[in-house]
Formats: sequence, C-alpha cells, structure tokens
Amino acid sequence: MTDLYAVIGNPIGHTKSPFIHGRFAGLTGQDLNYSAIEGHAESFVETVQGFFRAGGKGMNVTAPFKLQAFEMADERSERARLAGAVNALKYENGRIHAENFDGIGLLNDIQRNIGLPFQGKRVLVLGAGGAARGALLPFLQAGPAELVVCNRTHAKAQGLAGQFAGFGPIRAETAGQLAGRHFDIVINATSASLRGELPEVPSAVFEKAALAYELAYGKGLTPFLKQAQQSGAQRLADGVGMLVEQAAEAFVWWRGVRPETAGLIGEMTIPLI
Ligand code: ATR
Repeated sequence: MTDLYAVIGNPIGHTKSPFIHGRFAGLTGQDLNYSAIEGHAESFVETVQGFFRAGGKGMNVTAPFKLQAFEMADERSERARLAGAVNALKYENGRIHAENFDGIGLLNDIQRNIGLPFQGKRVLVLGAGGAARGALLPFLQAGPAELVVCNRTHAKAQGLAGQFAGFGPIRAETAGQLAGRHFDIVINATSASLRGELPEVPSAVFEKAALAYELAYGKGLTPFLKQAQQSGAQRLADGVGMLVEQAAEAFVWWRGVRPETAGLIGEMTIPLI
C-alpha cells in the first residue's frame, strides 16, 4: 500500500510541499502520496490523529499550527523543544514524534548551496519570533564567531539570547547599538516582508556582508533585500532554498533516503527583481 503523507495549515492553497515531496519521491523512487489538508484550530488534534489512524506516516505542519503540533506530540526532539515549534511529525509504533527542520534547512541552504560556512562568521539575525527562534540552535552549533539577534521589541531578543546562551556566543542588540557594526551574514527572520515593510537596521551592517538572506520566498526584491543590495551586500537570497532543504530533511527522517535538492531549487527560484 502507498504510504500517506500530508501538510496541514490554514490557509494551505499555495503550499509547495506536495510538489516538492512528489518530486523527491520521483527522484528517489519512493512510493508515497503527499496531500494538503486545511486544518482548523478547534479540530486540529483530531485531524492529525485521524490522519495517522487512517495509515498516515508523516505530516508537515505550517502556520498557524506549529505550536499546537508541538503540544500534541508524544516525543519532541531537542531542536523542536528549543524552537518551541514543530514543522514535521512522524507516526511510529503508535507514537507521534515531532521535529523542527526549518533552522537546519536554512543553515544547509546557506552552507551547502550558497557555499558560506558559518564557522568563524559574524552573523546578524533580525527578528525574534518563531522563525528566528527555530534557527538559533543550528546556527550556534555551526560555530559562528558571534550571533547577534536584533528585534523591534528588544525584550524578545534578550529573552532568546538568554535562552540560547549555553550553546554559543549569542547576544541581543538594538538597531541603535548596531550602528557602525559589520556582519558577514545578515538574515531577515522578521515577518515584515510579508507586508512589504522594512525592519529597522543600519545600512552599515551590509557593507562587508557576503550574504543578505530573506526568509520569505517568492516576494522578489523585498525592502530588506533592496536595502542590502544598495548598502553593499555581495549576494542576495530568498527562502526558496530553505523551503526545499527543510523538506529534504523531513524526507530523510521519514524515508531514510536523501533526495537531490539543487535541481529543484534552481527550478523553483524566482529572480530577485
Ligand atoms: P514568525 O513565526 O514568522 O517569526 P512571529 O512569531 O509573529 O512570526 O514573529 C514576527 C517577527 O517579525 C517578530 O520578531 C516581529 O517583531 P516584534 O517582536 O517587535 O513584533 C517582527 N516584525 C514583524 N513586522 C515587523 C516590522 N515591520 N519591522 C520589524 N520587525 C517586524
């Protein structure tokens, strides 16, 4: 029987996950069916349990259910616990296992695809919401010289820096404190771009940057990427690689085989104009 997988979210109409996992299945010769499910907060737990009872093997979880998925899981990885959110579930021996591959997907895209190792680099993360939080453990494990978190609401950045202090050189700084500072990698993990807004950051942070990375995907040259480009960032990227790489991590976790990602990323890349 064909193994069943799905992504659950709301809205879910524009999800690329069925396309990506369908392509991975083809590339690796795996027999699986991957669908999209529109979830609802009041029935989320029943929907997930029902999917697994009916033979489902794994799910991806997207907004706004990443916290509910975290709460309902029987087992959570360290990554999921520290992210406080879950983007992948696996059903095994009657138990629901939870993971979060967003951060490792982002790290893999920057290190492997873009070719920029974190080791010894100065890294700036803008934002202190779910997206930023999910990235901090993988980032610190990759050995940056420093990891600075800057958020509009400074107290949230301070909270994250305190929580992750045991894993490496992380600090919270306000946009004002960043004046005159330079970074090698600058990542926009705020949700500002979804509304065409610009998170406040001094232009100098981009002057020596090898990379400015926008987590949002398919939004073109966002205000953040435009500022980075005008301020001297050598390379711009959006979240298409992260999207495909987090999917690849989930695929390996579920199926035990790693799909090739470069071709698909190339195919899905929308020019940054
Ligand atoms: P996500 O899961 O996408 O991270 P979130 O948890 O709601 O979403 O977090 C959104 C992040 O984007 C927050 O860090 C938010 O800053 P605040 O903590 O001050 O709210 C940030 N953000 C959203 N819009 C922004 C804007 N226009 N300028 C700067 N930061 C913004």
